[in-house]
Amino acid sequence: MDDIVQAHDLTFRKMITAEQIAERVQEMGTQLARDFAGQHPLFLVVLKGAYIFAADLLRACPIDQELAFVRLSSYQGTRSSGTVRMDLEMTATVTDRQVIIVEDIVDTGRTLEAFRQKLLADDPADLKIATLLHKPEAQAFDLIPDYVGFTIPNEFVIGYGLDYDEAGRHLPAIYQRTDT
Ligand code: IMP
Repeated sequence: MDDIVQAHDLTFRKMITAEQIAERVQEMGTQLARDFAGQHPLFLVVLKGAYIFAADLLRACPIDQELAFVRLSSYQGTRSSGTVRMDLEMTATVTDRQVIIVEDIVDTGRTLEAFRQKLLADDPADLKIATLLHKPEAQAFDLIPDYVGFTIPNEFVIGYGLDYDEAGRHLPAIYQRTDT
């Protein structure tokens, strides 16, 4: 796959290879399996961006588990919009459960913080966050992800589920914007 890709009007260059992602996701799955063995955790996958990460992560985590999806969004184009929409009502019950939110990226943290507060109101036994990418420089909310695949600079990225206005999700590697 090319090191430079185009998505709409922007150009991106490869930042993390598919091999590096596969290796790291395997490690994260192994760690989660160790931490949650025998607890039947509920993995709450945030759509759409985390769908590829979740598919790989959960197959790397060979323990008894449950899966649910939720749709949150605060992004339009390459900027966080500032308001969080929860598009899908969640059907899973979190009360007294070991819950792990699976995210593609923690940027400002606004989306996750809003979601986390909503979940905490339902008294989960435990609430953890697993994210493939973390941009600590962009973080504006006091939220520390428990499982992080890669810490990256404050650049807009696409690939492996992440998009720029729906472009680039299918790319097997992570690409960063070149023209900022
Ligand atoms: P936050 O609320 O600012 O942390 O934004 C989190 C959400 O915005 C993520 O779940 C992504 O869907 C999206 N997002 C944040 N940064 C990026 C990026 O660099 N590329 C693509 N989507 C992003």
